[in-house]
Amino acid sequence: MSQDTSALHDPRGARVADRVERRWATISVLIMAVFVVVAAFAGIHQATMPQALVETISPTRLHLGGEFVETNLGSAVEPDGSVTVRAIGQQYSFTPQCMIVPTDTLITFRASSPDVIHGFLIEGTNINTMLVPGYVSTISARFDEPGDHLMPCQEFCGVGHEGMWAKVRVIDRADFLKMAETKRRLSCVE
Ligand code: CUA
Repeated sequence: MSQDTSALHDPRGARVADRVERRWATISVLIMAVFVVVAAFAGIHQATMPQALVETISPTRLHLGGEFVETNLGSAVEPDGSVTVRAIGQQYSFTPQCMIVPTDTLITFRASSPDVIHGFLIEGTNINTMLVPGYVSTISARFDEPGDHLMPCQEFCGVGHEGMWAKVRVIDRADFLKMAETKRRLSCVE
């Protein structure tokens, strides 16, 4: 029954074990060093690169004219069949409060803020961006299933922050297009 335990007591075996252990310790430290370098490079490099597309807009004149006047907010069908949703987030609500979009369609959300930074997050999707005063946030999406998604503001924006939310309602594409025949801009605000 005696196993070969002589290696444990053999000084040569102990030296080998020691060497192997040191080698693995070195390798694991090197792996961690590589991770740190990669994370630092990605963070610093990406943080210093400008975005491919930056659209600026005057936050004090949002309501007065141009793309984000109230009559132009909501969902619009584009000539190519895609849908653009324009919205504003301001202390402490989104306009429109309920956005409506069709299924199986390229949706482009375009939104901005006239006051402070707000969050633009659609639950159940990977859409999560910020509305920054002075800039237009653009994000594309496609919804497969009809249903409602909550849109809570996820950037602290003041005392009314936790009460700031909207909804995105996804409906069947055919129903959406029927609604769009009679209205230039659509929303599901009752
Ligand atoms: Cu708007 Cu928090």
